[in-house]
Amino acid sequence: MHETRHLIDIEGLDDAALRRLLDRAQALAGGADPELIPELAIANLFLEPSTRTRVSFELAARRIGATLVTIDSGSSSIVKGESLGDTAATLRAMGIRAIVLRHPETGAAARLVPDLQPGVSLVNAGDGRGQHPTQALLDAATLESAGLEWATARIVFLGDIRHSRVAHSDIALFHRLGAAEIRIAGPEALLPDPDEDLPVVRCMDRDSAVSGVDVIVCLRLQRERIDEAGIPEPVDFHRQWGLAPEHLALASGRVRVLHPGPMNRGVEIAPEVADGPNSLILAQVHMGVHLRTALFEWLADAG
Ligand code: CP
Repeated sequence: MHETRHLIDIEGLDDAALRRLLDRAQALAGGADPELIPELAIANLFLEPSTRTRVSFELAARRIGATLVTIDSGSSSIVKGESLGDTAATLRAMGIRAIVLRHPETGAAARLVPDLQPGVSLVNAGDGRGQHPTQALLDAATLESAGLEWATARIVFLGDIRHSRVAHSDIALFHRLGAAEIRIAGPEALLPDPDEDLPVVRCMDRDSAVSGVDVIVCLRLQRERIDEAGIPEPVDFHRQWGLAPEHLALASGRVRVLHPGPMNRGVEIAPEVADGPNSLILAQVHMGVHLRTALFEWLADAG
């Protein structure tokens, strides 16, 4: 009986799998050849908009010679009332062996797992404000590739942490990898509830948050998940919480700037920072293809 692997959240990955994915993504980024897995048939089921995640999964599937179909919310029978479980069973019956799911509801991927037919893997490609594990893995691989040492790394998340699935997965992963200190900073209403009990230090202002850090992760206002009345004015948000060149001067000399995208220039990040020498934003996008290639290899290797 073969094991069917899923990736729903960082907690669900054991240490060996986690290290394998990070190392393999970096090896692929360094020029290693991907495995060819033509027997793997993959469905990208994207029920919420995406550029980076959707396209990088598509490119990763092509790199391993897999068959890939992409289904979006407008073109799926989910709009006619079909359940996610029935959609997954339908895809499985047509030979699909891996479903990559982007869903607007928090917990959607985890809820689908018990309904899956045997032999089909599920990858959570972002669920509401829940988790985005492949983004966290590609962020960690990007930082390792840039020479970050976890044991001494001071990392800050700046912006809308509360509604960010990237922050949730990044914090879980960076803590597990041994980051020395993880800070969060942003408007009080956009910070997680204290009872979430995250392994983070809460900072009350931007300057103290970025002071001495090695990594700054900028996060956009996730308007699609905030009540209209709670969305700060972009100009005010930029003035109080946006990352501009003068803030980099407070950080460590080799500070790296990450942003999972999509970016809102002039809101959470100034263009000079996004395009500047400390930015790893396009390196993250590049690593995304390699990390997702490594993930497909890992899914297919179960057994
Ligand atoms: N980082 C990320 O998930 O971006 P997309 O929404 O464009 O996939």
